[in-house]
Amino acid sequence: MKYAKIQGTGSCAPDNVLSNEDLEKIIDTSDEWITTRTGIKQRRIVDKGKYTSDLAMEACIRALDDANMPASELDGIILGTISPDFIFPSTACILQSQLGCGNIMAFDLLAGCSGFQYALHVGNGMICSGQSKNLLIVGAEVLSRIMDYEDRSTCILFGDGAGAVVLTQSDEPGVMSSILNSDGDNWEMLYMPGGGSRIPATEESVKNRDHYLKMNGRDVFKVAVKSLETSSVAAVEKANLKPDDIDLFVPHQANLRIIDAVRKRLDMPEEKVYINLDKYGNTSSASVPIALDEAVKAGRAKEGDIILTAAFGAGFTWGASIFKL
Ligand code: UT7
Repeated sequence: MKYAKIQGTGSCAPDNVLSNEDLEKIIDTSDEWITTRTGIKQRRIVDKGKYTSDLAMEACIRALDDANMPASELDGIILGTISPDFIFPSTACILQSQLGCGNIMAFDLLAGCSGFQYALHVGNGMICSGQSKNLLIVGAEVLSRIMDYEDRSTCILFGDGAGAVVLTQSDEPGVMSSILNSDGDNWEMLYMPGGGSRIPATEESVKNRDHYLKMNGRDVFKVAVKSLETSSVAAVEKANLKPDDIDLFVPHQANLRIIDAVRKRLDMPEEKVYINLDKYGNTSSASVPIALDEAVKAGRAKEGDIILTAAFGAGFTWGASIFKL
């Protein structure tokens, strides 16, 4: 039996900080409202001329370095994103070229904020089945380019960043369980209307602000709590573990109130949950791998530890995984 194991982690966030106080100057909001409703204090925003592939590239180089693996040993790149450089070609192909690996499989995967969780699941399956040996699993976003900075209900939430892991074949676990789900019944609750075949870019679509993310936050909130709870419980059970066995929970960083509600439902102490949304806001697909990388580098997640990750996003999509570091 072969397993997939995380051999290295890396992340990258732009230097440029957009604080709650900065947002107070451009929209009708307050640091007090944002902090109490979300837990977010600041987010990072890329400079002009920088793209999703730039952040992803840096996160991948750091993950490969951490794994002590040259890019030439990779046999695939799977990148979760909702803000690719282009709709096509994939941002993963841009990485393939820039990293200087061989002509390996490379593709983007679109699963809302669950993009990394989905990519990890797919990569795990490919490694366990023997199709791949060494994969880069990436979550990368430049959400500031699809944010409407006139919509205070969304623009205060999201930021830019990227995270990556090197997933490699191993005789020992590794990934112990992975659960994915979707429910497209309420896709309009969180989506971007423009840019696809329904509403291509026209002068009118631009005037209608169709190329920006739209969200019904209040309803999304309720589904997020329930979904993160059920998939986390399912992943723990599938791994034949008990919640107590989890050393660290690394949830999608969307809202502190969501994380707290899920933590309480899982009966988990605060010190077992990794939170960094105060610094980055919601970075969608990048949120879990950035948090995981930070937790590893800060010594909060050590070799042999059992980690639970869970994510929820547009689609709706959601999922959770358990792995031994
Ligand atoms: O990662 C993908 C998944 N996404 C999520 O998980 C996001 C889930 N949703 C949320 O995190 C929360 O619903 C929000 C943070 C987006 C909103 O928090 P809320 O407690 O659900 O607020 P609300 O939408 O119910 O709005 C409450 C009030 C409204 O005013 P009225 O109608 O009560 O007078 C809003 O207009 O707060 C107002 N409001 C704001 N006030 C100041 C909305 N946005 C802001 C703002 N600053 N930025």
